[in-house]
Amino acid sequence: MSWIDQHEDMAGAFEATASARSVEPTLFREAMSRLGAAVHVVTTDGPGGKTGFTATAVVSVSDSPPTLLVCLNRGANSAPILRGNRVFCVNTLRAGDELIADTFAGRTKVARDARFDVGEWKKLATGSPALMSAVVALDCRVSEVKAVASHDIFFGVVEAIHSGPPGEALVYHDRAYKRV
Ligand SMILES: Cc1cc2nc3c(=O)[nH]c(=O)nc-3n(C[C@H](O)[C@H](O)[C@H](O)COP(=O)(O)O)c2cc1C
Repeated sequence: MSWIDQHEDMAGAFEATASARSVEPTLFREAMSRLGAAVHVVTTDGPGGKTGFTATAVVSVSDSPPTLLVCLNRGANSAPILRGNRVFCVNTLRAGDELIADTFAGRTKVARDARFDVGEWKKLATGSPALMSAVVALDCRVSEVKAVASHDIFFGVVEAIHSGPPGEALVYHDRAYKRV
């Protein structure tokens, strides 16, 4: 058995153990609904195409070099596009931009390209669309991608930052938009 086969065997065994010991997904989702989280629209543009999706799974990783991560469901239409482009911009939404959040979550059913008709978008360093009204927009180049369970985790090094006008931010808590 090659090293790779052994490794995959171990990974399979680990996944089996993890799923055998984990709580029900519905219980986990219910638990996660109790965590308040900032609402972001993650965008990308490049050879793979242009897209954006609403995300709360965004985390600061390090300030040297400035790095953050975004978790994206591998089944999302945006996943292969982001993998192909290897750049993304995290746009942290301000209170009042619920329509942008719903649009990029696919809730308004508009076509992918038409998603960008709502809001004012410009480019910073990587070519990914940056939302001018965002509390902050962090323009990133992918440094690493890790597949974990159902999601791809994109790590990005921040190449440019746009700070929008000061004001309240949009958060998602108890399955509803709120402002802080
Ligand atoms: C408040 C909110 C937060 C979300 N957070 C995430 C997230 O962190 N990761 C993710 O993969 N999908 C998340 N989603 C779902 C995606 O926005 C949605 O499935 C989107 O349509 C996927 O992109 P696609 O249109 O390219 O398939 C979230 C949706 C909402 C409403």
